[in-house]
Amino acid sequence: MRIIKTKDYDQMSRVAGDIMGAQVRLKPRSVLGLATGSTPIGLYKELVRKHREEYLDFSQIISFNLDEYVGLSSEDPQSYRYFMDKHLLKDINIAYENTHLMSGVADDLEAEAANYDRMIDAQGGIDMQLLGMGNNGHIGFNEPEEHFIGPSHLVNLSSSTIDANARFFAGPGEVPKQAVTLGFRQIMQAKKVLLIVSGRAKADVLRKALEGSVHPRVPASILQLHRDLTVVGDEEALYWYKG
Ligand code: GLP
Repeated sequence: MRIIKTKDYDQMSRVAGDIMGAQVRLKPRSVLGLATGSTPIGLYKELVRKHREEYLDFSQIISFNLDEYVGLSSEDPQSYRYFMDKHLLKDINIAYENTHLMSGVADDLEAEAANYDRMIDAQGGIDMQLLGMGNNGHIGFNEPEEHFIGPSHLVNLSSSTIDANARFFAGPGEVPKQAVTLGFRQIMQAKKVLLIVSGRAKADVLRKALEGSVHPRVPASILQLHRDLTVVGDEEALYWYKG
């Protein structure tokens, strides 16, 4: 595990942008696993800047996002498809048909998730998986549970996640109660994982995830077992890390 502590959110975004940018530069046909939430917005801005100013070329990149809310179509401004288009995908030269998110409005959501795993397998798995982390240690929408669930699947969101994500909706009542998410198999089989974390509110759970025991009650703790994990966090999130 590599831990990079940065001064603040902007520096975290630039460092993470350099790491993802290098992946794209060194393997132009990379399969990137992408994430949503407020944490990666600065990193995505940085990738767009690198595309415009430094000729970072996404033309052969394939992307798979981590998750999607159930019941929101791609036109819904709260959907993760809409978020990705707005913050990254429309502003870089990726072939749109090579950008993938599970559909939250599929008739059979479990089949949608199983098919998504097959599509990723058919591309040879994920080269670099970007992750943020929820306040309760979730990654993707893999919530604290008694077991690590391998396959991509349908989940019931925890009340803490619903409350945390309510800021993007008119209120907690508007947040979907379910989502489809990549499971731990694809995340752990990704060749590289890049976890970005910002802010004091996540410091304690981040410390538990990286230094505590590996347990599904702290979903991100499984990343301790990943063969190539890089954590980029700002001073607030990593205040406890002296390395
Ligand atoms: C959502 C997403 C996660 C993300 C988390 C944290 O629940 N499914 O992938 O990591 O939010 O979001 P934020 O970065 O806004 O704190």
